[in-house]
Amino acid sequence: MGEVNETYHKDLLDLTELSKEEILSLLELAITIKKDIPAYSEVLKGKILAMIFEKSSTRTRLSFEAGMLQLGGQAIVLDSKNTQIARGEPVIDTANVMSGYVDAIMIRTFSDDMVKELAYYASVPVINGLTDKHHPCQILADFQTILEVKGKLEDVKIAYVGDGNNMAHSYLLGGALVGMNVSIASPEGYQPEQEIVEKARELAKASGATIEIGTNPEAAVLNADFIFTDVWASMGNENEAQEREQAFENIYQVNSELVKFAKPDYGFMHCLPAHRGEEVTEDIIDGPHSLIYQEAENRMHAQKALLVKLLAKEY
Ligand code: CP
Ligand code: NVA
Repeated sequence: MGEVNETYHKDLLDLTELSKEEILSLLELAITIKKDIPAYSEVLKGKILAMIFEKSSTRTRLSFEAGMLQLGGQAIVLDSKNTQIARGEPVIDTANVMSGYVDAIMIRTFSDDMVKELAYYASVPVINGLTDKHHPCQILADFQTILEVKGKLEDVKIAYVGDGNNMAHSYLLGGALVGMNVSIASPEGYQPEQEIVEKARELAKASGATIEIGTNPEAAVLNADFIFTDVWASMGNENEAQEREQAFENIYQVNSELVKFAKPDYGFMHCLPAHRGEEVTEDIIDGPHSLIYQEAENRMHAQKALLVKLLAKEY
């Protein structure tokens, strides 16, 4: 496999493919589309998005499918268990065959390398709908939500408390690109990957972002504008649930004591699905600072903007 074609107008594999200007322009379009859905109802007329799911999904599947329909296109969902992918058909063949049928491919799977390989061989855009390493579409929705609430991304402090997983990686890269202050608290042994942290620090130099990685949730949340968390055991880590519970419980939970360290008007966000009573208490996730449903809705608007940018030449 050679170098992947990493131009913005082909794929979205991870956020580092986008510049700050491209992220801002995409989010501006997302906010515009959200305000006038009918105005964009024919932009992707005749276009087809295929979606491959090797992991479960509610939001990603529905928001992409509804988004394509609202844009005048169509979406086809493949349950990978019932495809030849699950029986070991080479990615090169899947990529080439699918490129002959559809205009774009969204994939949710375990291996980030598999998604890169798919994008390398596919002649149509490939969108990462979550891998073990990245979840770029969620960050687009989350940053749209922050823009709606704060009117800016730069100099906003986001704190993430929990597993150094795909979400932590994506906040690090996204925040570093747009000039946020990103502070992460994860237990020893569950910290974000060093390679991602280094990439984020490099991006931060250009944007003026600050990156803090530690183990103390109170320090991370101090003066935060937004607090994020995620499940202690992601999809694929379920067999480690018990040992993870021991590493995270009592400390890595967003609760009424922890939020006292944030700004008084802090917002709480979670990509969902959430486990109430584990990474977040009910009073916080269902309380007045929670933005979770606005955030979930924005998955659709942000992804519509992404699809328009990838598939409609005039944008
Ligand atoms: N946040 C998110 O990606 O949700 P789903 O797993 O339901 O798609
Ligand atoms: N970190 C979670 C995110 C789910 C949207 C997972 O990968 O399961």
